[in-house]
Amino acid sequence: MVGAIGCERSSSLGPGPSEGSPRGAHLGTTWHRHRSLPAAPSWTDVVSLLRERRSSSDEAASTSTPAAPGQVFLVGTGPGDPSLLTLRAVQLMQTADVVLYDRLVSDDILQMIHPGARMVYVGKAKGMHSSKQEDIHDLLLQFAEEGATVLRLKGGDPYVFGRGGEELEYLESRGIRVWCVPGITAAAGICAELGIPMTHRGVATSVRFLTGHVRDAPEAQAQLDECISVASDPHTTLVVYMGLTKLRELVATLTRNGLDPATPAVAVERGTTVHQRAVGAPLNEFVDKVERVGLQSPTLLVIGGVCALSPHYPELLASEVIDGQIVPRPRVGRQLLSEAQDREGEGTLA
Ligand SMILES: C[S@@+](CC[C@H](N)C(=O)[O-])C[C@H]1O[C@@H](n2cnc3c(N)ncnc32)[C@H](O)[C@@H]1O
Repeated sequence: MVGAIGCERSSSLGPGPSEGSPRGAHLGTTWHRHRSLPAAPSWTDVVSLLRERRSSSDEAASTSTPAAPGQVFLVGTGPGDPSLLTLRAVQLMQTADVVLYDRLVSDDILQMIHPGARMVYVGKAKGMHSSKQEDIHDLLLQFAEEGATVLRLKGGDPYVFGRGGEELEYLESRGIRVWCVPGITAAAGICAELGIPMTHRGVATSVRFLTGHVRDAPEAQAQLDECISVASDPHTTLVVYMGLTKLRELVATLTRNGLDPATPAVAVERGTTVHQRAVGAPLNEFVDKVERVGLQSPTLLVIGGVCALSPHYPELLASEVIDGQIVPRPRVGRQLLSEAQDREGEGTLA
């Protein structure tokens, strides 16, 4: 018997790369839902367009001084719910010339970008042919060199497993000014949604963000194994990004290194979106439960005593499979809050 909580929210993950958009271009193949819009120019057309625009404005200004390069903004968009965007992110979305966006940037957020911006999808999907990081670097550079204000939109926060640091290094070393606009990382957004305090007096004195996925190199794997063994600490909340594929090994290493198999754990797929699904279990039942429910990427794992503090933990533990179908559980987070507010409102009126 398996439990999963479905949560109805106002946003969705899984943006359609706007390769079909008149203002869009697409780099790489993806499993994403596509918008059905007219044919798009390629990103090379977008660069040419910027070049033309720039040379005509240079002529108009009839100056011999070369125009300055543009700037790149690495912008975090949070875990999916648009109401978790920062004001600065929204302001930039209203003014950018070009927007390069990832798989994790939700459709609802993409809709907020002004219609004049050129959209380029550069998402990566595990196991699929997708954009190479070097191509993304190159594109960012080309657009910036043409004088554009470039927005590099990323899910969560650009500097938390977002490769924002690599883009910063590449561009800064080539004379392009880079600014980072922080976003709410999946850990913060999802723990807030489910009522899991990442630290709590007497329960967790530290938090560790860990990746379950490392590049294919023996030293990288050894480094990760070392990190997991150190993380086997009952007073640390462990938040694992990209941890689904290696979940069984991860849990085995944690328990082998002394973490209590009864430690509460929660897995959340597409957190803060209308598609949110979540399950909870003690560590020794966690892997089987996550596999039976069939959670897919993007899924975040939270392991530690703090999970049991969530008011939803009993529901997350509950069994809910009928004929192989996961039955949506009562709604959590914002939905519960707004229902409570509605009731309050009704009370006031009465
Ligand atoms: C490449 S990392 C990007 C992390 C991002 N920069 C952040 O700060 O949240 C992608 C992983 O983040 C986690 N993630 C991001 N958004 C999520 C969401 N809405 N729900 C669940 N997990 C999410 C998943 O573990 C996913 O595999």
